Amino acid sequence: MNQKFTEKEVSPLSSMEEWEDDLLKRYPDPDESVKTKEEYRNYVDSERVDTVREFYRLNHTYQTYDFVKEKRADFLKFDKREMSLWEAVDFLNTLVDDSDPDTSLDQLQHLLQTSEAIRADGHPDWFVLTGFMHDMGKVLCLFGEPQWAVVGDTFPVGCQHSDKIVYPEFFAANPDSTDERYNTKYGIYEPNCGLDNVRMSWGHDEYLYQMMKDYLPEPALYMIRYHSFYSQHRENAYSHLMTEHDHKMFEWVNKFNPYDLYSKVPVPPDAKALRPYYEDLVAKYLPSTLKF
Ligand SMILES: [Fe+2]
Ligand SMILES: [Fe+2]
Repeated sequence: MNQKFTEKEVSPLSSMEEWEDDLLKRYPDPDESVKTKEEYRNYVDSERVDTVREFYRLNHTYQTYDFVKEKRADFLKFDKREMSLWEAVDFLNTLVDDSDPDTSLDQLQHLLQTSEAIRADGHPDWFVLTGFMHDMGKVLCLFGEPQWAVVGDTFPVGCQHSDKIVYPEFFAANPDSTDERYNTKYGIYEPNCGLDNVRMSWGHDEYLYQMMKDYLPEPALYMIRYHSFYSQHRENAYSHLMTEHDHKMFEWVNKFNPYDLYSKVPVPPDAKALRPYYEDLVAKYLPSTLKF
């Protein structure tokens, strides 16, 4: 698998958090001080920008309609591994990157901060559970998948790339951009055909959605499936493919996004103390093992 990509192409970032840090620079917390926003802006000059740019160059070049088809055929068989959600969390935590001193949070802590912030606001338990597992699809990285096929903003394939997607200039190198089937506004789709009929670029969102689709309420599934679809939930670039129902469900996606981006707290959550609560919650909605 992935023989055609060099080591550098598989891992352009020192860790997947670099993408999330970049999102924070792009969409700073409106509640944060002006000074913090200033710091974010200064980041634009830093060297990390180069690795994030390279990450997006690879993502936009290689995420074609055919690439997505190939990945779906492979990973939606769910024949890689069978494990409990807890084993998956432990597995995911092996992704912690020591070379980056700024990345003090491991994956479990990001998940718990997200879900605890949702819980503190008194939302229903399935919303809390969604926060707790929304990034579980990142286990794809541990199957040797390139970072740009696990994380990064997602976008529809099979139709024109919006210039509202971050670094749109990199799509020039994507073969779909010159393919007449795919390079018009609607491409292979009909107006307002509904997002369920639209293929998204491949990553941790769609993968986890497919794993969870029988177990969670519809708003939870939308949050999982589209949380990285920034060009829609932040920029509204693909309304022409959406139904009224999609728009209604995107209210949940929008509600979820601040918890994902802005829930970092100075004191990390006590994973050990919280575990019994989450064990019960997971057991309420999910089978004891899941196929990955
Ligand atoms: Fe995510
Ligand atoms: Fe996340």
